[in-house]
Amino acid sequence: MDKPVVFLDEIDSTNSYAKLHFNSLSDGCIVCAAAQTAGRGRLNRRWISPRGVNLYGSAVLKNCRAPFGATTALSLAALDTLRELAPELSAYLKWPNDIYVATAKLAGMLCESVTDSQNRLLGVVAGIGVNLNMTAGDLAAIDQAATGVLHETGRTIKPFFFAERLAFYLKRRYIIYSNKPESIFAEWKKENRLIGRELTVVGFSGSRTGIFEDVAPGGEMLLRHGGTLEKISSGDVKIDRTCLKNIF
Ligand code: BTN
Repeated sequence: MDKPVVFLDEIDSTNSYAKLHFNSLSDGCIVCAAAQTAGRGRLNRRWISPRGVNLYGSAVLKNCRAPFGATTALSLAALDTLRELAPELSAYLKWPNDIYVATAKLAGMLCESVTDSQNRLLGVVAGIGVNLNMTAGDLAAIDQAATGVLHETGRTIKPFFFAERLAFYLKRRYIIYSNKPESIFAEWKKENRLIGRELTVVGFSGSRTGIFEDVAPGGEMLLRHGGTLEKISSGDVKIDRTCLKNIF
């Protein structure tokens, strides 16, 4: 039987490794490393990856036709894992690729298409970093509001154990995604607690404030502002306590 998790000690980035070895890795497996020396985040940011502290993993999804499909399956599997291992944590999905607790980021995802030499799509590598055991000091040093499981709940979770449970839930979510993508999309939308709220999105072409009305089937945010419904495909959503009112 193929191994559901491939454990590495240290690597530049699990996403880069999974892309490089995409053909030989089994479909649905997660490549996980104890440390990353060049962890990558969205929008060309760095992802700080100290040894043995957090989960750094990348799923190989050969049956995904677009990064957004991978986001839906992986983010729901990550919520399943968090709900099993830290049930008191009130985590939610924040468009496009984050998991938040209140106003602080707990996890981020980076989903990348993989193509062959003729530019034909082979599938998607879906990377995820989950803050598990960072201290308050480590979290404060991050350039945006960040949190972690230990900080929120007092629970210490071993990163490789988290990876095993994540692989278990991902297998389930991936089967559903492969057979009934619309049902995964509907569940993913339910976990996006900011839909319907007023918020600000900062993107390449400036910042917009409006009502987050819905998510299009391709994963774009539909933001109503100034009498129009704009489709936004990437950006950072800024939130504050007012925007979260009555959610928790
Ligand atoms: C983000 O929020 O900007 C996305 C962060 C994604 C980080 C993970 S850690 C494992 C995988 N390998 C990487 O280099 N990046 C992703």
